[in-house]
Amino acid sequence: MNPRIISIKNIHDEAEGDLSIFEGSGHDLPFAIKRIYYIHHVPVGTVRGGHAHKQLTQLLWCPYGSITILLDDGTDKAEVKLDTPTKGLIVEHAMWREMRWEQEGSVLCVAASEFYDESDYIRDYDAFQAYVKQQAKLP
Ligand code: TYD
Repeated sequence: MNPRIISIKNIHDEAEGDLSIFEGSGHDLPFAIKRIYYIHHVPVGTVRGGHAHKQLTQLLWCPYGSITILLDDGTDKAEVKLDTPTKGLIVEHAMWREMRWEQEGSVLCVAASEFYDESDYIRDYDAFQAYVKQQAKLP
């Protein structure tokens, strides 16, 4: 599996610091952004996630700290460490993900292609495996 990592545009100023930016709708992301959320105040060592989505595509980035994203497409697995504010990871639908907090104060930001919809989640790993197999059989 080749995780889809993007380099977020960055404007650096020696005296004033950095400004990072991305735009949706085909500019920097392959989708329009309908929702943004962020996860913070997570104790180091915590593993969150443990689910996949049927339709949702997301960009994950970590503006502060270090968080490892574990990806599993039902066949292959990959790990991506988000430890710099300009590194983004696009996570497609039908991808099992877990997120491991590795540094105190780390913040995980997510830009999502859809509004929140609990029925889009697959929260059971066996159900995820069955879903991927079923999708592969579709014409
Ligand atoms: P969840 O996506 O399961 O978080 P994680 O994968 O990081 O453990 O969401 C945690 C809870 O928050 C769950 O009850 C659903 C709720 N939630 C919303 O209400 N709206 C949202 O946009 C998101 C992402 C989660």
